[in-house]
Amino acid sequence: MTRPAELLKLISCGVYVIGVAAGETRNAFTAAWVMQVSFDPLLIALSINPNHRSYALLKQGDGFTVNVLAKDQLELARHFGQPGDIDKLAGVPWLAGHCGAPILTDALAWLDCDFHHECPAGDHRVVMGRVVGGAIQRLGEPLLYRDTGDMDGASRLFPERF
Ligand SMILES: Cc1cc2nc3c(=O)[nH]c(=O)nc-3n(C[C@H](O)[C@H](O)[C@H](O)COP(=O)(O)O)c2cc1C
Repeated sequence: MTRPAELLKLISCGVYVIGVAAGETRNAFTAAWVMQVSFDPLLIALSINPNHRSYALLKQGDGFTVNVLAKDQLELARHFGQPGDIDKLAGVPWLAGHCGAPILTDALAWLDCDFHHECPAGDHRVVMGRVVGGAIQRLGEPLLYRDTGDMDGASRLFPERF
């Protein structure tokens, strides 16, 4: 019998650090559920658990950043995968994007997005952002979600069967 957890891991995803800001309060979290959803306008969608500390800041702010992690940045994925009751940005080099959200200067690439709209999606919220800027910062291969093992503890969240 195919288990949902094994099957869903075959949907290929990268690993990103989403930067958020509300005024001078900033945070960032690791996300795999990120994809382009439109060419015109150029839209990115991300799926966020509304219980994350980052969600409230995302709602209060005007935009967010998507930082693309490289294959050798597994530890950064783990670091930003921790809850935001610590200052996750301390000691990590970053610059503010156009809405104040952090751009990680060591990431492979970044996109700067304006908040566009949001829809409910089960236990998550899908947030659409219009891409207004970005850059490739260095050459390299992107980190893939399937190479993070069970870093996010997702295996226990899947149903056993369909
Ligand atoms: C590899 C990986 C992928 C993740 N993908 C997502 C995701 O797509 N959406 C999400 O809401 N949380 C995702 N998480 C979980 C958050 O990063 C984690 O719950 C984090 O503590 C939230 O931080 P915050 O409370 O500071 O906002 C992922 C975690 C890891 C390690």
